[in-house]
Amino acid sequence: MAYDVIVDPGALEALPDLLAREARRPRFAVISDSNVAELYAGELVRGLAGQGLPAEIFTFPAGEAHKNREWWGRLTDGLVEGGFGRDAGVVALGGGVVGDLAGFVAATYMRGIPVVQVPTTLVAMIDSSVGGKTGVDHPQGKNLVGAFHPPELVVADPRVIRTLPRAERSQGMAEAVKHGAILDEGYVTELEEMAPALLAGSEEAVGTAVRRSVEIKGDVVSRDEREGGLRQILNFGHTVGHALEGVSDYSIPHGAAVSMGMVVEARLGEELGITQEGTARRLGRVLEGFGLPVTVPAGLSSSRILPFLRSDKKVRDGRLGMVLLERLGVVARGREWVHRIDGQRLEGLLNRAMGRNGPNPDLV
Ligand SMILES: NC(=O)c1ccc[n+]([C@@H]2O[C@H](COP(=O)([O-])OP(=O)(O)OC[C@H]3O[C@@H](n4cnc5c(N)ncnc54)[C@H](O)[C@@H]3O)[C@@H](O)[C@H]2O)c1
Ligand SMILES: [Zn+2]
Repeated sequence: MAYDVIVDPGALEALPDLLAREARRPRFAVISDSNVAELYAGELVRGLAGQGLPAEIFTFPAGEAHKNREWWGRLTDGLVEGGFGRDAGVVALGGGVVGDLAGFVAATYMRGIPVVQVPTTLVAMIDSSVGGKTGVDHPQGKNLVGAFHPPELVVADPRVIRTLPRAERSQGMAEAVKHGAILDEGYVTELEEMAPALLAGSEEAVGTAVRRSVEIKGDVVSRDEREGGLRQILNFGHTVGHALEGVSDYSIPHGAAVSMGMVVEARLGEELGITQEGTARRLGRVLEGFGLPVTVPAGLSSSRILPFLRSDKKVRDGRLGMVLLERLGVVARGREWVHRIDGQRLEGLLNRAMGRNGPNPDLV
């Protein structure tokens, strides 16, 4: 990757000094949401002032519902009215919602100004701050409007996880388990052992997991910046996961959906004879250790899920593309990174993978 990712307890306090040395701009716009701004933005702006770096805070109400074009417009208007020029920089201080929205403001303001990502949730540290995807939601779907705009620098301070609600900590761990599942079995074991410490917000455990996840995701992304090939393996668990989010009208959070998605997809791979037996069960145990759900709620039948799967962007000629594991830590590769599953077979497979064909004692 062309940018540095700094993961260090105390990094937030050291950020003004770091920006003064590594990413100096005549002016900064610190974009944050209402929760994070209250906790951390004031001190950051005072620190920047101490370094002779003028900065202003722009906030929007916390929550996915505000990651939209309206708030992209309002924040952009704020920069215009504030007289921010092409030489200004954006600091995105917050979770994935802030990172995506502030990143998209930076991507489009005067055709693009630099953004420094300062992730404050596990989701953002482990996943969204690295990779350069920015954007907003549309009533027709999530992340429908956006741009690739890699950050100038990413600075993650594991200490801020102390104030993050516990349920939010669980959500972030689904993607970390995914990183291990696709590329590093040892990391899965390590995460399993660190689960209690991670859920408690231990800065040491958080630092270890974030560093390893960033390494894995960064390596994949730098080899395939725009998602033509290898990057697709990051979609493990997401084909079924996205369908579950859609069918639940987004009432199932992303991490929970991906958690169930990974178990179902591993089980599906086992059914197809591609994934080593027992992989789904092992994955399920690890995910449960993080308080994540691993079985699809009974109300969500395969007949409700299938239409969402069939509208997946990876469908070609009626065949659904899915990333499958060979075993934990290794993706099964056919002619492409995704396996093509015939639409006709999908319902039967999905039923078996979700354990809807009568009791199946093997199922997690
Ligand atoms: N760009 C990408 O590659 C990518 C990848 C994954 C997810 N995402 C996006 O990320 C978003 C989800 O991110 P998220 O889970 O971080 O949600 P979020 O940004 O909404 O944060 C969750 C909640 O925690 C609060 N919060 C954040 N940091 C805190 C802290 N340190 N202490 C106390 N409270 C804190 C927030 O105000 C919010 O209420 C989604 O919009 C998703 O599409 C993007
Ligand atoms: Zn995801």
